Amino acid sequence: MQSTFGIAILAAGKGTRLKSRRPKVLHEIGGQALLLHVIAAAKSIAPADNIYCIVGHEADKVMAAVKDTGVQFVHQPEQRGTGHAMQMLEQHLRLTGTTPPENLLVLSGDVPLIRPETLAALTEFHLRKSAAMTILTAVPPNPFGYGRVNRVFPGEAEVSAIVEQKDLPKGEPGSPEINSGIYCFETAALFANLGKLTTKNASGELYLTDIAGLLVQEGQRVVALQADSVDEVLGANTIAEMMHLDAAMRLAAAQRLMAQGVTIFRPDTCVIDAQVTVAADTVIEPYVQLLGATSIGSGCRIRSYSVIQDSTLGDDVLVRNGCILQEARVEDAAQLGPYAHLRPGSEIGEAAHVGNFVETKKARLGKGSKANHLSYLGDAVIGAGTNIGAGVITANYDGVNKHQTTIGDHVFIGSDSTLVAPITVGDNTLIAAGSTITEDVPADSLALGRSRQTTKPGWVAARKAARK
Ligand code: UD1
Ligand code: CA
Repeated sequence: MQSTFGIAILAAGKGTRLKSRRPKVLHEIGGQALLLHVIAAAKSIAPADNIYCIVGHEADKVMAAVKDTGVQFVHQPEQRGTGHAMQMLEQHLRLTGTTPPENLLVLSGDVPLIRPETLAALTEFHLRKSAAMTILTAVPPNPFGYGRVNRVFPGEAEVSAIVEQKDLPKGEPGSPEINSGIYCFETAALFANLGKLTTKNASGELYLTDIAGLLVQEGQRVVALQADSVDEVLGANTIAEMMHLDAAMRLAAAQRLMAQGVTIFRPDTCVIDAQVTVAADTVIEPYVQLLGATSIGSGCRIRSYSVIQDSTLGDDVLVRNGCILQEARVEDAAQLGPYAHLRPGSEIGEAAHVGNFVETKKARLGKGSKANHLSYLGDAVIGAGTNIGAGVITANYDGVNKHQTTIGDHVFIGSDSTLVAPITVGDNTLIAAGSTITEDVPADSLALGRSRQTTKPGWVAARKAARK
């Protein structure tokens, strides 16, 4: 039944009320652009081939941001209103010789919390009522700013018209039921009426909402369905409204994890993206951010002020305060921080330790190995049971190219040593503290790479005496 639906997503507007240079539909909530949320919901109803994004303001940026979803694009070079956007769709289908879909579901690029279940209920209601237009509505605590839906009789589906806030007769509060900006149309009935739209309204735009009155005048059926939840149809016209939706999404993510056995202290302070997974019995302290495609095992503790993005953690991992992880992989029972920085390609082995002010990048630290203090480990493969002393640096960059450092198992690298890559340090070696190592070190060896100390007994006392 749903296969008869094509989908149009209105995403051409500038978003003047945001006062931002970024196009509105690319502003992010829940870690993802508004438009990507809407496209994800749309895909539950129709394949990407049948989803048409209407783009205009900063079209190139908008298209680039969502092109991976595979949706179609229709250009609306001048944004003359939501009705005009539909005229552009009609023209696009006509010029490309595409048969219009029997029914059209219209979504707003700035109404991002809409759920697939609600869209399914709306399309089903539209078909069951054999309506020319079906409007998804809600009754929010404060309807100000929205278009208002006038029903013919209270409690019945039939609608007589939609009146925009700006066009309400002076002093009239208007209907408390708002237009969500989400509709179903019988496509032929919509397209036949688009030419009748006028700009005789407070905004001087072609309103898609005026189609409701036009269809009623023709004797066609226009009905409304009230959404189960108000939140999912709230629009995002200002930054404050967006942050309200963002908070709602983050809270929903935290609640989903808590329902699965994760302890989150002060969930209102944590920022958790929708795709993040965390296993039961992990504890998340206040002010933690878990972002992107992050997955965390069970029995872990993530202490305050850590930010973990696109990373995978095993079980029983301890992340102390203030760690930053990006595209990192951390195996069971490892311990990080405080203030460790794991950059992309970091792989921390089972029970390994990465301590304070240690930065890793494209570095693998083997099972049980430790780098506890003040180190940079980049382009390095480090074996198991190895100890990296305080202040050790892998000098991986010669100003032009990056080079690899390979360190074996059970190695002891003394504090403040510099390993100039490319270099290999064999198993069971010992590098003396303060060494600059420029040549490979074979297994079982001691390597010293520092100038010899000279001590002059009595030298200071002699100088003092000479000054008298
Ligand atoms: C619109 C509805 C209003 C409804 C509200 C719900 C109209 C006239 N009004 O008002 O009844 O309560 O949504 O959120 O439709 N857009 C285009 N091309 C344009 C103009 C807008 O693609 O020429 C897009 C915008 O990018 C946006 C969407 O259409 O994604 C809605 O436009 P917006 O200006 O935000 O309309 P509202 O004033 O919110
Ligand atoms: Ca809007």
